[in-house]
Formats: sequence, C-alpha cells, structure tokens
Amino acid sequence: MKILGIESSCDETAAAVVEDGARVLSSVVASQMDTHAKYGGVVPELASREHLRAIVPVVRQALRDAGVDLKQLDAIAVTQGPGLVGSLLVGVTYAKAISFAASLPLIAVNHVEGHIYSVLMDAKSKGEEIALPALALVVSGGHTHLFSIAAGPAELGPVYKLMGRTRDDAAGEAYDKVAKLLGFGYPGGPVIDRLAPFGDPKGIKFTTARMKGNELDFSFSGLKTAVLRWVEKHDLLEEIRTRHAFVEQKRAKHESPTVEEWLTVTPTATLDLLASFQHTVIHELLHRTLASAEQMDARSVIVSGGVAANEGLRQAAARTARPRFYFATRTLSTDNAAMIAAAAYPKLLRGEVAGLALKAQASLPLAG
Ligand code: KG4
Ligand code: ZN
Repeated sequence: MKILGIESSCDETAAAVVEDGARVLSSVVASQMDTHAKYGGVVPELASREHLRAIVPVVRQALRDAGVDLKQLDAIAVTQGPGLVGSLLVGVTYAKAISFAASLPLIAVNHVEGHIYSVLMDAKSKGEEIALPALALVVSGGHTHLFSIAAGPAELGPVYKLMGRTRDDAAGEAYDKVAKLLGFGYPGGPVIDRLAPFGDPKGIKFTTARMKGNELDFSFSGLKTAVLRWVEKHDLLEEIRTRHAFVEQKRAKHESPTVEEWLTVTPTATLDLLASFQHTVIHELLHRTLASAEQMDARSVIVSGGVAANEGLRQAAARTARPRFYFATRTLSTDNAAMIAAAAYPKLLRGEVAGLALKAQASLPLAG
C-alpha cells in the first residue's frame, strides 16, 4: 500500500510516498530556513505564506520521485497538529482537496506520533523489531516529551501514556535561544552540535533544576538564563557582534559557514560554554529518560525529533548498556513527511479514516 504523506506543521513543507509503512519511495522537504533565519526564529505569518507557495510543487515532486501518480496511491495522510495553526491549515486543506479529487481516504496524523514512527519505520525497513513496552523521547524545537508505548488491542493500535514533559522550553528551543543570544544564528542545534566537540564539556558547571512533583519532567529555561548570566559576566558583546556580522555576511551570500570558519570567530572560552551547555542538555535528557525507562521497565527507548539528530546525544545513548536506544537517520529525525505516511499506515489498516470535516489543531496532545 502506498500512502502520500503531507507535513506542514512548522517551517518545513514536506511530502513523501511510503510503501507499507516502511519503504520510503520519496521524501521531499522544502525548508524555510532562509526566510526565518534573519528573524532568529520562525515567524508564523511568513511560514503560512511559504507553505502556500511550496505545497503544490513539493507534492508534485514527491509523486514524481516515487514514480507514481495519484491513481496509484491508497491514501493521503496529513499532519493535523500540533503546530502553527496557519501552517497546519495549508497542509490539511490541500490534503483534503486531493483526497476528494482522487477519491482517496484521508488519514489524520499527530505530528508527535509521526516523530515516533520515524524510528519505528527506520527499524522496520532494516528488518528490526523494537521490543515493547518502549519509551519514546520526542525532543524537538516544540516538544520535549516522554511517552510510554505499549501494544494495545489490534483494533486500536499502540497505547501511549505521558510520563514526563518540559515545564518550560523545549530542548531544541533552548538550543535555538542560546545560539541566537551568542550570535550563531538560527537554527541553533546543528551549529552548537558541530562546535561542542572543540570545547571542554566540564569547563563550566551548570546546575539543573530539581523537579517538584513529577521527577520525570524537564526544565531548560534555568539553563538558558545561566548562559545569559555567563555572557553578561564575561562581557561577550563585542565577540557576539563580530560573529553576528559574520553570520549575516554568509547568509547574504547564501552560504553556510564551515567548522573552520566558525572556529575563527569563536574563542576557546565560548567553545567551552557551548560544550558545557550541550553536556548539560544531554545529561538532563538522558538522566530523566533512563529514570523513566526504569520506572516503566521499558525494553527499548526510541529517540526522535530534531534534537535526536544531535551527535553528542547519540554517542551518549550508545554508551548506555540497557535498555537499547533506537534513533532514526538524521534526515528522518527532523521534520519530514515520510514519518507522517508511516504513522498513517496502521491507521489505514485499522480503517481509521478522517472525513472532509477534519480540522487543523494547534494543540493536539498525543496522550494524557
Ligand atoms: O523536529 P524539528 O525539525 O521541528 C520541530 O518539530 O520543532 O526540530 C527542530 C529543532 C530545532 O530547535 C533545532 O535547533 C533542533 O531541532 N536541532 C538540533 C540538531 N538539529 C536540529 N538540536 C541539537 N542538535 C542537533 N544536531
Ligand atoms: Zn517536529
């Protein structure tokens, strides 16, 4: 069965064709990075406008790359939420239109469940089975959530339960805010990840908050404030201004800096700051994930979302003996539509079809 997935919840317009929930026949992602970079973050109004511009060519490209036309598809899957409502609306409206025009079933997918399926799909395509119960850490610019996943009754599919979540910023948001503060531009995760190995991760001691109530909840705003205090105390304004000017210069030329170039505008003390920040985030993520896995006796841990692309996090997870950690490839970790088509496959088999009254939902919890 071939499903066309459409994803437009944030700043990526994506379409993909996936066969039987595992074989990616095509996956097209049009990033709006250039549009938002000059504002240091996603501007919702600009995002919807860019989605409108991109949706038709992106879907056409995905069909062309897969070598199929609409008539050869079995369903259309679309991200219903959570996300920016104006962005979601573009994908949902377009998905409805083609499902109506081609008489194909329409399947609504939760973006967070999509991220979980990116890992399930990757494992399935390699012939691996992820043992349940599993714990999923979904960690991106918008989410930092821990869900337990248990096999449910066949007619209902997996059962998700929320184990922990961030009380304030998402981990990716903390990366983006710290990068912006230090003049590294947007998005922050990839740059900090590339530069962290050049600094001392123990150079600066950051303390993380102890959580009252649920010990499995995360918090990243204190760490962000600690970085801000450090910057103020060490008078980094001139250095940040120079780096910001360098970033703007590269952006104007549509180039992205190489590591060597970054190193010329980043002194050792700042590299230590980046390494220590990344070390603290990874510790926070892994510490609570392992505590949660132990509490529910998880047999596997799934890590997905943009921050799952982080090399430091992958290496630290690989050093954990038990339970076994599973990541998707980097391109499937960040927002894409293949994960949406993959999540839709079991729903199609179960007959969970949405009607044309489907509404985009900015807030759409996967589980309570
Ligand atoms: O899943 P995603 O593409 O979009 C959301 O649903 O939010 O995640 C984007 C987030 C951004 O905050 C970005 O800085 C972060 O993921 N990110 C990373 C890395 N690559 C992307 N964070 C840390 N390390 C990375 N290598
Ligand atoms: Zn996402």
